[in-house]
Amino acid sequence: MDSYQSVKEEIKRAVDIVELIGQFVQLKKTGQNYAGLCPFHSEKDPSFTVSPARQMFHCFGCKKGGDLFAFWMAYHQISFPQAMRDLAEKYHVSLPEAHSGSSGRRERDQKEDLLRVNGMAAQFFHHLLTQPDKGKAGREYFERRSIPSEIISAFKLGYAADEWDGLTRFLKDKTGDLKTALEAGLILPKKTGGYYDRFRGRVIFPIFDLRKQIVGFGGRVLDHSLPKYLNTPETPIFQKGELLYGLHMAYEAIRKTGYVVIVEGYTDVLALVKHGFQGAVATLGTALTRDHIRRLKGYAQEAVLVFDPDAAGMAAAMRSLPLFLNEGMSSKVLILPKGDDPDTFVNTNSIKAFQELLEGSIPTFDFFLDRKLAESRSTIEGRSNAVKEVIPVLLDLNSEVQRSLYARRLSEKLGVPESSFLKEMEKEKMQKSMKAEGSQVQDRSSYQEVKVSDDVFFLNVLVHHPGSIERLVRLNLKSLLSDPPTIEIFETIARNYRGQDSFSLEQMMNNLSGEPAKEVFREAMVSPSRFQDEEVHLILSDFEERIKIKTTAARAKASGDIESYNKVLKLKRERDVLPRMKGNSQEGR
Ligand code: UTP
Ligand code: MN
Repeated sequence: MDSYQSVKEEIKRAVDIVELIGQFVQLKKTGQNYAGLCPFHSEKDPSFTVSPARQMFHCFGCKKGGDLFAFWMAYHQISFPQAMRDLAEKYHVSLPEAHSGSSGRRERDQKEDLLRVNGMAAQFFHHLLTQPDKGKAGREYFERRSIPSEIISAFKLGYAADEWDGLTRFLKDKTGDLKTALEAGLILPKKTGGYYDRFRGRVIFPIFDLRKQIVGFGGRVLDHSLPKYLNTPETPIFQKGELLYGLHMAYEAIRKTGYVVIVEGYTDVLALVKHGFQGAVATLGTALTRDHIRRLKGYAQEAVLVFDPDAAGMAAAMRSLPLFLNEGMSSKVLILPKGDDPDTFVNTNSIKAFQELLEGSIPTFDFFLDRKLAESRSTIEGRSNAVKEVIPVLLDLNSEVQRSLYARRLSEKLGVPESSFLKEMEKEKMQKSMKAEGSQVQDRSSYQEVKVSDDVFFLNVLVHHPGSIERLVRLNLKSLLSDPPTIEIFETIARNYRGQDSFSLEQMMNNLSGEPAKEVFREAMVSPSRFQDEEVHLILSDFEERIKIKTTAARAKASGDIESYNKVLKLKRERDVLPRMKGNSQEGR
């Protein structure tokens, strides 16, 4: 066993996968397993499953799955060696020198290099704030904004002096090579050769990921010049559409209360924390995305959007509505008095006043409707415009039930008959699907629904009753199976496990070459057993019998023996009307 493998095993022994994943996904016990909303694809009903018995996760929707390393790598989008270092540190498992990162022998990992240079830069900016002369302007700015030193330390705020190459020189001295700093977007190439700092004359807000690593920066001018904020450009570790400012500090509070407050600016998050409200996050100057919501739904059931009461803020709230609905998260809107943002509001009023506004926040859909109604005030044209605007929002919903629920509410409020409303929706839908045609991709999950039966039975028997493997491999099961990945699994075990009476599922999984086969196998592993021990021989006999009929029929047909062919067919028809065992029970979660 190589040393990777043994450390991997040790971490697996030290960590319970339910506890680990439970830190990022809200899990509920369902039978033997735990289930939650998948952090890797859009869904409203939990098909993300964690099996404590197998120490595995698997999503029945998007088919992502694996062990705790696979989860950590996918969730944090990092490499396997890094996942191992993270988990070893988190759970106090000691790593041999070669993996610890302290030795120069470990392979270069671009993302880790970027994080390291960001860490150095953050240290540089933060340190500058303490410099009597050079940091004065920055300190004074934070004072003006009444951001106290506790917040400055907790969020590692900093300052970039108004000069061309402070950071460039610092990093050159420290690392000798500016390649990574350039990739991290910290410096820019000069036309005349050499480099200069991206952030100059700005206060600095480092942006952390959920591993509490600095992935990028926001820098704000000290006066009214433009652009007000400058951010790190997109890099392999900085994707604005996935990151939320403050989440690394807020997630525990969010989990406790079950809701998250989403604000627009960095300073809004900081002001709320300063006043003792921990559960707020901000987007990085972009619209809220599906990926943001996926992250948040691991902690919260509900989001409260605090947007500017201007038209742009309202429009942003509206656009997020279908995203929330499709991720199974409810959303509300909190409207501040005109001219306020959360920062100015809590600083001039109180956190109590903010909490009161929070309690009065209203569901985004109702807010939207009420506004449309207010706009259309009784004119027929206004109402029909309102309908036109709402329909696309409703059509974006994945759930038919939800759609008709909202349609009913809408028709009540607008005084438009529900039927005409539904008709209008059908029309839109047709047009939409006509447009979408051609760009259709095959949906794996719906394809998988169809082919239950023998493929699923075979796998279920295999993983839950490994003792039956000898009998299974002796069967010519291929004639009954229809799902290519399952056929690959059958062929692999027939090749490798003939003459063995037991085997390890994990080893079996490693023998599979195709990713689809692995997915299917994992799905079987986390699904509950369909058969009691004493039923297994029944299902195996059933397999045997049907295979016999099939091969006999094929032989008769090939040899042109019409009479025996018809006889076999008759036999088959009689069998098929017999009730099948547990055939319709749903694939378990
Ligand atoms: P706001 O303009 O509302 O600023 O932008 P703010 O957060 O209230 O800032 P202060 O209080 O004036 O300091 C909201 C967010 O939009 C992004 C930033 O993330 C900011 O926090 N933004 C804004 C930019 O990325 N670039 C800009 O030029 C302006
Ligand atoms: Mn502000």
